[in-house]
Amino acid sequence: MQSLTIRRPDDWHVHLRDGDMLRVVAPFTARQFARAIVMPNLVPPITTLGAAVDYRERIWDAAGREFTPLLTYYLTDDADAEVIDHGFNDNVWTAAKLYPANATTNSAFGVTDLRNIYPALERMQTIGMVLCIHGEVTDPDVDVFDRESVFIDRILTGLVRDFPNLKIVLEHITTAEAAQFVRDASENVAATITPQHLHLNRNALFHGGLRPHAYCLPVVKREKHRLAVRAAATSGSPKFFLGTDSAPHPRHAKESACGCAGIFNAPYALESYVEVFEEEGALDKLEGFASEHGARFYGLPLNEGTVTLNREANDVPDRLGVGDIDLTPFHAGSELRWTFVD
Ligand code: DOR
Ligand code: ZN
Repeated sequence: MQSLTIRRPDDWHVHLRDGDMLRVVAPFTARQFARAIVMPNLVPPITTLGAAVDYRERIWDAAGREFTPLLTYYLTDDADAEVIDHGFNDNVWTAAKLYPANATTNSAFGVTDLRNIYPALERMQTIGMVLCIHGEVTDPDVDVFDRESVFIDRILTGLVRDFPNLKIVLEHITTAEAAQFVRDASENVAATITPQHLHLNRNALFHGGLRPHAYCLPVVKREKHRLAVRAAATSGSPKFFLGTDSAPHPRHAKESACGCAGIFNAPYALESYVEVFEEEGALDKLEGFASEHGARFYGLPLNEGTVTLNREANDVPDRLGVGDIDLTPFHAGSELRWTFVD
């Protein structure tokens, strides 16, 4: 096959940041995706209607009005069911995000004990609002490579039992346990999958030396987990859909004694996914994963229009950015087999 045309896709998990960084990165997402679920882990986090409405304007200024940012409410211990309900009703936000406190970048205001947000979750279940979850425990006694599977055992299993009608997206899954949990759960439980967790196993972190640009959270896992996540993504199951988790950090913040977690994959996101689907002999499953399953799960219409990828070599530069914003994209310095042509 030399060319692949699919319905215009959406990104169900992205970090667009703010200020100069937003202006640099948002156009990359808007070029490939019609809509995106935008993470709220700004400083300060998005917890009010006013902050969300203002942020949406800044995103439109950066990305253009054809792009539809779907904002998220950042759940804290003080999460307010009335505010959540109001913002959902007014189409200010589409989902709420659960960060266990201190699990990842800008999650210090996250939830310390799930019981603190039970009233908010009750309301979300009633109104049909999606809960997006960063599924890792923060217990320092738990090995960093086990934090997702332990989260499933200690937290998620009980949550799904207590809120059987709550729509839950387990974000950026990285393990065989997560793929199986989602597969076996009710139709109210789904998962997003990033390009990096399809391409990389944990050897990539140490390939010839320490590789900060392969570091994200949840951290990439053993090969058997990568294979399980690839199988889930390419299975055709409506429970699995595209969420890049594109998470840009300035190069100096990645290449540091204490480097930030996050991989900037927005510029070549579809090219990255399509390689995986091709390798798995599942090009016919890409459209469902990228353009249908997520919208159906969120109860939103499918996009009009299409995008096309040509099977033409595509050189990814070492650096991208404008002015002071210096970024290293995922696949930097390598050649991808496909090119996005709009
Ligand atoms: O790698 C990550 N980067 N994982 C997250 O959960 C947050 C993100 C970020 O905001 O940088
Ligand atoms: Zn994320």
